[in-house]
Amino acid sequence: MQIFNTQIELEGFLSKIRKKGIKLGFVPTMGALHEGHIDLVKRSVEENDYTIVSIYVNELQFNNTNDFINYPISKDRDVEMLKSVSCDAVFMPNKEVMYPKNFKKITLDIGMLNKVFEGPLRPGHFDGVLQVVYRLFDYIKPNTAYFGLKDYQQCLVIKALKNEFFNSIHLVFCPTVRTESGLAMSSRNQRLSSTGLIEAAFIYKVLTTIRDLSVHIEAFDALKYGRHLFIQKNIEIEYLEFANADTLMPGKNWFKKNKNIVLVAVYIEGVRLIDNIVF
Ligand code: PAF
Repeated sequence: MQIFNTQIELEGFLSKIRKKGIKLGFVPTMGALHEGHIDLVKRSVEENDYTIVSIYVNELQFNNTNDFINYPISKDRDVEMLKSVSCDAVFMPNKEVMYPKNFKKITLDIGMLNKVFEGPLRPGHFDGVLQVVYRLFDYIKPNTAYFGLKDYQQCLVIKALKNEFFNSIHLVFCPTVRTESGLAMSSRNQRLSSTGLIEAAFIYKVLTTIRDLSVHIEAFDALKYGRHLFIQKNIEIEYLEFANADTLMPGKNWFKKNKNIVLVAVYIEGVRLIDNIVF
């Protein structure tokens, strides 16, 4: 597996690949890889001639300094995991490579996406994601890029970025990978104790309960019951809401089949965890 640290090395190599018409798949990550990431890499390896993964903990997207400082880093382990699934290359830039002194920030109005759920709660977060993904797409110019649907709102933000600047890049959004207990795979899970991991599995139980209740009762009552379940377990809820799965516009009554999304953010042992379910 090739390892690139600078844009010059990367560009030199990728320009040769592009000339040969090789299909390039790309998986952007912040490292601390888990089965969710590996699932994206496997899909890219299957669907492309060459797969590149980036590992860069993007300070710009952290609205909370502590969260940035505590973000798990496991580069050697990450590299081994990538090798084991036949990933072809990894791009691991430092801050100077990612954001050189003269770099120009892009601006993109993502409208509603900045006004709901993660938008207002994590000011600057999506702008940070847009800056880094713009730069990565621009450096790598993949044919296809892969993202996980656990970060559902991020997927819609990336779609807006693609539509504005990178029409030729094909996006693939992959289903959330879960542990047997239902817990969504996340790098943040590494910060939970074994008790915390058991508690965190409750998140998906609440989501599936709400989904199952949606056949019988109105959204307001189903969500109220879901919140009650978290409160009973002393789990701090930041939000538990439903919206239109295409637009994230909040609604009053359930939407049509497969157009509902319930999104949740909770704190367990001080770690912020998000998840969602579409039905
Ligand atoms: O989902 C992530 O890991 C990050 O937000 C991303 C897309 C790699 C940008 O830093």
